[in-house]
Amino acid sequence: MLKFSKIGPKNYAGDLLVYLVRQPGKGSPRSACGTVDEIIRRVHALGDFSGKEGEHLLFYPEKGRHGLPDVERIMVVGLGQEELSRELFRKAGGSIASLAMKSKAQELLLVLPDLVCDMAEMVEGLSEGLVLGAYRFRRYKSKKDPEGSGEMLQQAALYAADSRGVGKALLLGEIAAQAACLARDMANEPASHWTPAHFSEYARHLAAIHGMRCTILDQARMQKLGMGGIIGVNQGSAQPPEMIILEYAVKPSAPTLLLVGKGLTFDSGGISLKPSAGMEEMKYDMCGGAAVLCAMQAVAQAKLKRLNLVAIVPATENLPGPAALKPGDVIIQYGGKTVEVVNTDAEGRLILADALAYGIKKYKPDMVIDVATLTGAVIIGLGHHRTGLLANDDELCARLLAAGERSGEPLWRLPLDQEYSKQLRSEIADLKNVGKKDGGAITAAAFLKEFVGETPWAHLDIAGTAWDFTEKSYIPKGPSGIAVRTLFNFVRNWKG
Ligand code: BES
Ligand code: MN
Ligand code: ZN
Repeated sequence: MLKFSKIGPKNYAGDLLVYLVRQPGKGSPRSACGTVDEIIRRVHALGDFSGKEGEHLLFYPEKGRHGLPDVERIMVVGLGQEELSRELFRKAGGSIASLAMKSKAQELLLVLPDLVCDMAEMVEGLSEGLVLGAYRFRRYKSKKDPEGSGEMLQQAALYAADSRGVGKALLLGEIAAQAACLARDMANEPASHWTPAHFSEYARHLAAIHGMRCTILDQARMQKLGMGGIIGVNQGSAQPPEMIILEYAVKPSAPTLLLVGKGLTFDSGGISLKPSAGMEEMKYDMCGGAAVLCAMQAVAQAKLKRLNLVAIVPATENLPGPAALKPGDVIIQYGGKTVEVVNTDAEGRLILADALAYGIKKYKPDMVIDVATLTGAVIIGLGHHRTGLLANDDELCARLLAAGERSGEPLWRLPLDQEYSKQLRSEIADLKNVGKKDGGAITAAAFLKEFVGETPWAHLDIAGTAWDFTEKSYIPKGPSGIAVRTLFNFVRNWKG
């Protein structure tokens, strides 16, 4: 969707020409075009446009007017006065995409401003923002344009007098953002159209096109391996469970990172049934699984060479069928630990425990990151802005916090003292699957901690950020695609 254009604004005759301007301390904002600046001056004098972040000015120049490009629409977008950052450009890219789609423009030319900043950061931010901001999920809309606005944006070209050395930034931004959009697609699909089998199918497809290795453990195999968590959670469902494993190997000398994503394709709560209000949102309970698969796609597409990766997605529904787990049942997780299932709605940790224990035993990773819509409690604590981060390793945390910050997906570390684990003691088994209500995000992580041993491990609780994420120009209403870009940047920034 993105490219650099050799054609400058003077010779551009397309749908939409976009300029970016800073808000000056005083006076009227200036673009790269003198004639456009005359118009900005007039509008500025009226008090209608000052170049504030998010402000825009759209006009339709007369054809052949001296000094103006021969283009249908010209838009000037404000960048404000704040420090220039990748996030600022990402937001600008998001605004440009949605404004373009509100008009009927299907392609645009964006003239890069001449600013004192890291050009690669600017290009990558704009690239991500344009792709993320142009995202719409229209698969189930029978009419092309039901709201009377919004065509799909087909292509955006960037223009700079000198674009040497930033082609890679454009491409990497696009790869990461497209992978995040793909995770949004998976999440937007209704549960009946995104089942464990769909996860497997996509993983096989990824493996085929990127030369990765894909292994699917089916129900019989998981039963044999003793994965009582995922088998138990699946008992009430008519869809068989799947454990999807993707391996991306670069070189034996590089460290291995294991990614585990919760792929609960629908969480009704099971016998501990959830209230019906809002239950439809539980089709999003697979966002962790989508995030790790899509991060694998981005890493493979960008051909990153710093880490070997293994991604595991335990996938199942959690439904109250006649064979469903019952509160009080005892299951045996992979590796032999027994768990008293006090609440069947605390199912995510049961499937993750099998995946973590199995992945660590089989692949002996140097570090593990799991991503899961695990608890309502993390939303009480952190709201919809920061992802909860819980870990047994400070360095891994520092790297994740940095990657999240760079990606506009901030994390916040919560404590994980051994004290919290006391809540998980069971009278009859090694553990029970829920603690008290208080500190629920922490006790959930404390449960997972029992299955990772000494391996450096971090857990991302994305229940608050996987959808209804902070409102921004490049974040749509539904699923956000959270964690895809954070994981991608984590791998990209890796230094031993
Ligand atoms: N998938 C839910 C967590 C969730 C809730 C995510 C709301 C997003 C929004 C998880 O499986 C769950 O049901 N957790 C329970 C745990 C409880 C029973 C200890 C919860 O948070 O209520
Ligand atoms: Mn649940
Ligand atoms: Zn769940």
